[in-house]
Amino acid sequence: MIPVESAPDEEASLPKANGQVLSLPDSKPYDVGGVRFVPFDPVTSTIDDDFAEFRRYDWSRSLVDQASIGPMLTDKALAPFKTVSMSWRDIRVSVQTQTGGVLPCTKKVELKPILRGVTGCAQPGRMLAIMGGSGAGKSTLLTLLAGRMPAGEYEISGELLVNGHGRHLNTFRRIAGFVEQEDRMFAELTVREQLEISARCRLPASMPLEQKMRRVDQVIYELGLSKVADTKVGSFESRGISGGERKRVSIGIELVTNPPLLLLDEPTSGLDSFHAQAVMLTMLRLAREGRTIIATIHQPRSQIFQMFDDLLLLSEGYQVYLGSAKEMVGYFSQLGYPCPAYYNPADFALDLISLSTHSKMLEEQTRDRVAYLEASFSRHRKEMDAKLDEPLDDAMVVKPKEAPRLLSFLTCIGERKYSARWVEQFVILLRRAWSLKLRNRAIIQARVTLNVIYSIALGLIWLNAGRNTLDDRAVAGVIFYLLVNQSFGASSAIVMTYLSERRVVVRERSSRTYRMSAYFLAKSVTEVVLLVALVLFFSCITYWMVGFQPHAASFFIFTVTLTLAAHAAESLTLVASTSVRCEHTASMLASVLLTFSSLFAGFLIAPSIMPVWLRWIRYISFMFYAFAALMTDQFGSLPTLSSSQDPMQVYNVNSLGIGANIGFLILLAVVYRSIAYVGLLLNKQRFQKSL
Ligand SMILES: Nc1ncnc2c1ncn2[C@@H]1O[C@H](COP(=O)(O)OP(=O)(O)OP(=O)(O)O)[C@@H](O)[C@H]1O
Ligand SMILES: [Mg+2]
Repeated sequence: MIPVESAPDEEASLPKANGQVLSLPDSKPYDVGGVRFVPFDPVTSTIDDDFAEFRRYDWSRSLVDQASIGPMLTDKALAPFKTVSMSWRDIRVSVQTQTGGVLPCTKKVELKPILRGVTGCAQPGRMLAIMGGSGAGKSTLLTLLAGRMPAGEYEISGELLVNGHGRHLNTFRRIAGFVEQEDRMFAELTVREQLEISARCRLPASMPLEQKMRRVDQVIYELGLSKVADTKVGSFESRGISGGERKRVSIGIELVTNPPLLLLDEPTSGLDSFHAQAVMLTMLRLAREGRTIIATIHQPRSQIFQMFDDLLLLSEGYQVYLGSAKEMVGYFSQLGYPCPAYYNPADFALDLISLSTHSKMLEEQTRDRVAYLEASFSRHRKEMDAKLDEPLDDAMVVKPKEAPRLLSFLTCIGERKYSARWVEQFVILLRRAWSLKLRNRAIIQARVTLNVIYSIALGLIWLNAGRNTLDDRAVAGVIFYLLVNQSFGASSAIVMTYLSERRVVVRERSSRTYRMSAYFLAKSVTEVVLLVALVLFFSCITYWMVGFQPHAASFFIFTVTLTLAAHAAESLTLVASTSVRCEHTASMLASVLLTFSSLFAGFLIAPSIMPVWLRWIRYISFMFYAFAALMTDQFGSLPTLSSSQDPMQVYNVNSLGIGANIGFLILLAVVYRSIAYVGLLLNKQRFQKSL
């Protein structure tokens, strides 16, 4: 704590707010080394007039008293909602960890406890803070409370009630806004666009668009984002808004839906203390409107600590305190740990419950202290348990059958599973996908540049090869190479963009923002449009330089076939990307699939030479059909030659004809896309359903 220095005779002119001298009852000036200090008093300090102003309201009058709240986020169209209370008892979470060598036989599976019996409750109109050192289990507890614990990884036990009843997870996840510790957003979208998508997809379809946009403006204003509203979020590679602003955007994405329950993981991390306070003040206002706010927090400044109603302290997964934030200091002093004068209570608590690893002796001492605090708290828990037994709010019961009907009462979101209609979702996502494609300049530039280089280079290497009818080998060669080139080019672009998008999509899907089908179709449409433009550009240069058949129809068939082949390659890459989680594995798998497709095209090896049991693979290779369509397009109309000279026979081109080959190509692209879609559905993030 830093004392505020002031001259000895300045007592008469103590900090003023709105012209009034504020009393500082506990902040008596003191002398050190002949210098007089006036201690900073977190309770009555006027450094933040906003908070001082806020504290003057009599919140006890009514939880949802609009008049006293002032300019707030509440939009009449979004109210009313019912309140949500949560209580949890003896929550235990463990994770399976693997230790040992690389070989499976040397590996040991251990169960690492993360939470060791945590009890608590959160009530409407109040703000609960979860505090503890790094690795104490705060995020784990909050994720569990938000109903977003990944399935399979963790072992969970305990009891969790929402308004006194077991919760229906799907419904719960829609009414609970969850701001994760890590911000997951599209770097290329502006702050306003991020919020607009959330508002348009998650606010009820019946709400006029103007009102949704007004809501976005309110949130931007309330979170102090007006200055950067039209700035791109940015990423590590391309600078955009600051880290603190990113955090506020993450909060805004959840805030636009006006959720009755808001869970925030480190909402102030990355923020300077002024903005941290502003954000927490917004949370406090929301709480006082009747919402339930639960936040994990690191090192809050004393004024932020003052805002918390309730406090839950964790140390290495053990619970050492639950109760009123104001009473925490008293509680620990009863246990023999008094808080030094003028000390930030949050700093005091963290110092008390953190393990020191500076030396063995210190570690042992701090471990003993934590064990003592945990044992002391366990004794108090009986009292807590009695409290938790009382249903907090019987007015609302989330039961699976009643869930959709109750949703509309609970919050501003609609009764349907997804707030926006499918078509609306599709249009919003199509616009977003298109903006992302165009704004992702690095990828677009790389693809266009490579296309120009390849088209000119191939055109020069095979210059006029098609016009020289004696050189069939060269023409077949360039056809095969073009096919391979365009397929691999399309694939590499997809693997990069899809996997970077997945993190954000998973977050959006976990709060039921849109249907996977709307996302997938919007993405596919955008890809096709871009692909058509790129392949057309490529064909225009290469086709005429190589000197393929000089007919418009042949050129058209060539471009269509090449586009469909590149699209099939993209689809096959999506199959790879959706079937594995790791970016590198997906990229390798995609190139294996494409290499196999090219091996079975018929150009490199005749099917008759292959083992019989492998020959069928060519029927599921898109290059088999694409190569045949391109070859037939170029050589099909030429006079028939002897089998040893006929390129159609030399290169094992099937006799299906152009139409049928293109038909099969389309069919394969659809099949690949469908498999990728199913993969996406199966690979979606699954959550624990046990609590
Ligand atoms: N899937 C996992 N595998 C291994 N360890 C895990 C896993 N999930 C959580 N843990 C461990 O559980 C402990 C608590 O993690 P958690 O993220 O909840 O901590 P935290 O209190 O939020 O920390 P911080 O303040 O640094 O965010 C940490 O030691 C972490 O390493
Ligand atoms: Mg955390």
